[in-house]
Amino acid sequence: MLLHIDGGCIMSNIRNVEPKAINLTIDGKACSAVFGQTILEIARENDIYIPTMCYLTKTLPIASCRMCVVNVEGVDGMILSCQEKATDGAVINTNNDELFKERQNIMKLYNVNHPLECGVCDKSGECDLQNKTMEFGVSGQNFTTKEPHRAVQNWGVISYDPSLCIMCEKCVRVSTEITGDEALKVKFGGYSSTIINVKEDANYKTLGEAAAVCPVGALVDTSFKYTANAWELTQIPSACPHCGAGHDVNYEVRNGKVYRVTNQAEFSTLCSASRYGFDFDNKNVKKDVSSFNSALKAFENAGTIIFSNETSNEEALIFQKLKEERGYNLISSEARAYQKFMAAYGSVTGKSLASGTLEKLTKSRAIIVMGTRINDDAPIVKYHINMASKWQRARVAYMHPLADDEISNIVTQFIKYEAGSEEGVAALLADTLLKDVELPDSVRAVLNDLDIGNLSAESNVGEEELETLRKSLIKKVGYSLVVGSDLYAHPRAENIAKLLALLEKYAGFNVICVPPAGNAMGISLICDLDDDVEGSTIGYNVQGDFTLSALGNGDLDMPALNQQEGTLTALTKRVVPMNVVLEYGGYVLNDIANALGLDAEYTINYTKELPTSKGFEAVEFDALPDYFDAVGTEHRGYLLNEVETVVDESIEEPAEMDAFDGTVIYNCNPQEHFSAFTAKSKNLEQNAYLQGSQQFATAAKLRDGDTVCYTIDDVKFERVFKIDTSLKGTIALNPTFDMGLSSALISSYRFNQVEIERVGS
Ligand code: SF4
Ligand code: SF4
Ligand code: FES
Repeated sequence: MLLHIDGGCIMSNIRNVEPKAINLTIDGKACSAVFGQTILEIARENDIYIPTMCYLTKTLPIASCRMCVVNVEGVDGMILSCQEKATDGAVINTNNDELFKERQNIMKLYNVNHPLECGVCDKSGECDLQNKTMEFGVSGQNFTTKEPHRAVQNWGVISYDPSLCIMCEKCVRVSTEITGDEALKVKFGGYSSTIINVKEDANYKTLGEAAAVCPVGALVDTSFKYTANAWELTQIPSACPHCGAGHDVNYEVRNGKVYRVTNQAEFSTLCSASRYGFDFDNKNVKKDVSSFNSALKAFENAGTIIFSNETSNEEALIFQKLKEERGYNLISSEARAYQKFMAAYGSVTGKSLASGTLEKLTKSRAIIVMGTRINDDAPIVKYHINMASKWQRARVAYMHPLADDEISNIVTQFIKYEAGSEEGVAALLADTLLKDVELPDSVRAVLNDLDIGNLSAESNVGEEELETLRKSLIKKVGYSLVVGSDLYAHPRAENIAKLLALLEKYAGFNVICVPPAGNAMGISLICDLDDDVEGSTIGYNVQGDFTLSALGNGDLDMPALNQQEGTLTALTKRVVPMNVVLEYGGYVLNDIANALGLDAEYTINYTKELPTSKGFEAVEFDALPDYFDAVGTEHRGYLLNEVETVVDESIEEPAEMDAFDGTVIYNCNPQEHFSAFTAKSKNLEQNAYLQGSQQFATAAKLRDGDTVCYTIDDVKFERVFKIDTSLKGTIALNPTFDMGLSSALISSYRFNQVEIERVGS
């Protein structure tokens, strides 16, 4: 598919260029590869070991250590295998006396003045320097130089000990290329070179990702320092339940306590909630027979089950089965909004899921982000946009009512639109980007009939801004659209979904519809959700007439997601397994379900029953794989199958927009918070303020420090108002994560006109 714009030509995203096959020999083994792969990549694919110190699979080659040197027949000297692309017919040797000596000398240099106080070092037992010092037979420190005093630095979640640093630069690459906080830099100074934190005041928790890749004990988690030796901890692999990315995590446990979370940092990156928000279990629970019986009685009388996104796929299936058996209404508001949005989206594309992937996002040259404060809503997706920005020099257009300083380093065009005008903006985008594309007559007729002047006026998006956006796509290969939760609960969400789906179907956009946090995607696929409450309610991690809660304050305790086996559906469309990390002695949902007539020994008996009609596979929980292979391919659970849906491209004209005036606040959590469970984490402890600009404060007649009250979706907020000088405009940010059992009740469109009452100052 070719999209022509003013004579410029945008190639389709889906570019079927066959990679050129090459053949080579490494250590006598015949290897097949494709042109563009490095010698190191091919060696790893073929189980051939080449030692490295600075190589990090998920970043561009750093090429600072020289440990990966190899010999290539016909080429003088040694070649750095981590950055050298292999050529057809090459004959490569990775291991001989000369290479061993070279590597041994490198290790000797690394050990110049290295304190080798492994006994007290946090990295001991899992240290690359320690391991390779042994591997290359370096038994003493042959050289020394005068060691300057280098103080240990505390950078919030991580601490830096320059005397242990081997200047491999992995931390800098992660901070720059992956998380994008751009806090860590090299301060060059010969032997005194060091890593510095140029954004110390910002206190980024994303720096935990830099510590995760540090091969030695130079960067360590401050909270873990001196608490345990690596070999004393039991690693329990699982999936993180917080942001919706379902990342691989190893909970490292001793005596019933999680000490830290590690991950396959060579290949994958966690958000800060994942890295540090592991202490959300429901502690010291025993079986309370009387409360259990009360729960059964409540289920007998209830008409509705309301549940939060922190519900596993299997638990969602239990709710669905209970609905089928007993006729309950099922309410899970965010998942319901996403379900309706995706159904409308799929009615255009003919597929149950948006086709976009994070891998393609990373390779994009042009990206449009709309309807999400992406750095807070889905940091993992923001990381991938950052990677595209750093590796592909991608143009990033950020469309939102509020600018976000935290992504200004990657945004090339900020298009501010008015809160509430998302339908008009989606129509403008479709009209702009599908101008010269062949469309069904009915769709073209709707686009031709658009009152562009009116839509521009209502949304405040100028035609010249759209023209700049359109031109930025010319000659770019690979473009993505990322949309999010601002759109799903919009009153016109379904038409917005259809308008945006046109971009996937007719212009080849890689579209990612970021699901709300937690397991909203899984719930939306498994349950027939309802819109209305009927009768009395059972709440599951939500306030109901009878409340089952893993937050520790309900009528009957339930296990948190790190206390049970099951699966989650990640935003990558991957169904991933979770394991029991911490003990739990109380009742679980499956006990109630069995007492109500279902029959399953364990909750995970339902894993194989997840609906294949929605793309799940009939696989036993214990058969789900859970690892990355040597080259970083993810073998965790399985990818959802794509399911065909009925096509109905009946697009409507945008509706008249209600004016959004008065005091407007936007429900948005800070970057490391997603739910009442991240709020429960002591490691992530954070005050929740209503934050607005000076302009907002003036318009709302508020002063910094005032205590204010307002109500959203019948949930009453009482908060301290803070002026945030990084914010502009007249919309304030309202976090919801700290609202406990009410958090999941807040489900309306994220921008709200509210009456703010000042109750104290
Ligand atoms: S960084 Fe590694 S080699 Fe250095 S003291 Fe720590 S464990 Fe030992
Ligand atoms: S702090 Fe760690 S990751 Fe960063 S340069 Fe030093 S050794 Fe490498
Ligand atoms: S791994 Fe190649 S130079 Fe470090």
